[in-house]
Amino acid sequence: MEEFIINGGNRLYGSVKLQGAKNSILPILAACAATGSVSLLHNCPKLSDVEAAINILRHIGCKVERRGHTVIVDSSNASGYEIPDGLMREMRSSIIFLGALLSRFGKARVTAPGGCEIGLRPIDLHLSALRSMGVNIAETGGMLECVCNASLHGGHITLNFPSVGATENIMLAAMSAKGETVIVNAAREPEIVDLADYLNKCGVTVTGAGQSIIRIEPSGRFFATEHRIIPDRIVASTLMSGVACAGGRICIKEVEKEHLAPIIPIYEAAGCKISFSEREMTVESFGRPRRVRHLRTMPYPGFPTDSQALFMAVVSKASGTSVISENIFENRFRHVPELNKMGADIRVENCCVAVVEGVRNLHGANVTACDLRGGSALAVAAMGAEGQTVLENIYHIDRGCESFETVFESLGADIRRVQRAGE
Ligand code: UD1
Repeated sequence: MEEFIINGGNRLYGSVKLQGAKNSILPILAACAATGSVSLLHNCPKLSDVEAAINILRHIGCKVERRGHTVIVDSSNASGYEIPDGLMREMRSSIIFLGALLSRFGKARVTAPGGCEIGLRPIDLHLSALRSMGVNIAETGGMLECVCNASLHGGHITLNFPSVGATENIMLAAMSAKGETVIVNAAREPEIVDLADYLNKCGVTVTGAGQSIIRIEPSGRFFATEHRIIPDRIVASTLMSGVACAGGRICIKEVEKEHLAPIIPIYEAAGCKISFSEREMTVESFGRPRRVRHLRTMPYPGFPTDSQALFMAVVSKASGTSVISENIFENRFRHVPELNKMGADIRVENCCVAVVEGVRNLHGANVTACDLRGGSALAVAAMGAEGQTVLENIYHIDRGCESFETVFESLGADIRRVQRAGE
């Protein structure tokens, strides 16, 4: 097992290019399986979750080649509609392949995902939407046996919560369904818009992505497609939190300003100075962060749940008390006891509210990453702490941040990846 050794106290200076978005490439890779054509995808981050998705594509018979940050998927000979449990478990969001397999083969056999680090993660919205599109789903012994007796058909689906994964699964199933599909109360995240852009290039007509009502109209044909994955707004907030915790001034290249609109005012309120020049964002922070009275995570365009832990690391050192409400996932404060080991003063009330009493300094400690963003939050907190932090279970971070230590080292952080002592 690998871990990070982080010696805090170095300010961050320099510039970095932002990686492609994990949450965009995963559903787009699933969509590739449904086209039966060739897709050339640029700006694909090198992440363990992306490798897991590629393993699924290969398992069902796709040819996949990676050339640096470009991935080429040829799904013309794909024939497998079953994903074994081992592959499903490699990646939390593998359920996204369900819609794609149904679209391509009219049937699918996958294991039902269990809960995960950040919550129960039910898929009831995915399944009820697919049922309404003509899919028979039998849930037996942890397996989902799905088959369309007649053809998959479009429908008018109203989600009772704008679930990102359910919106994507419906869009994927709708790619080859008979007739138009309308999703009401769809998720509005930028990654949904990216999936829609990819589908439009493939020959599907998708309108309304980024708004609450999305319409998907298949054409019955799929074209070979070239597409560039959008930049990762959550990794942008990881870098912003790094500067806010450690101090300094960095330039993040290839950002999409509009995608960052929900988080910029919050980081500014905490004392960061942020400016843009075309697709470059400069973030500067000197001195102690300021408290933020009450931050609530919400579906886009609200403050993202994926940035909650990262921002908590910042205000843990603020002057004053901040309150953070987590409204999306029920188990997303697992970084709190670890931050407290570093000297933070945070208490969780009623599961979903954290009261953060800012402390002047954090100190190094032996801490454990419990999930991807919580782990990244501990790493950036360590960069702004006094002394040495040993951060275990960094495989969580590798799921979503490409070359985490290389990126921060290039900005001046003292961070090393090492094999755990005694292994
Ligand atoms: C995606 C993102 C994740 C992000 C989340 C919210 C990917 C790969 N992951 O996850 O990083 O934190 O969006 O922005 O894109 N829910 C149900 N029933 C369902 C589906 C969801 O109750 O059928 C609940 C979930 O348990 C959760 C909430 O809805 O409490 C949000 O989930 P959802 O938007 O679906 O998130 P994911 O797609 O899993």
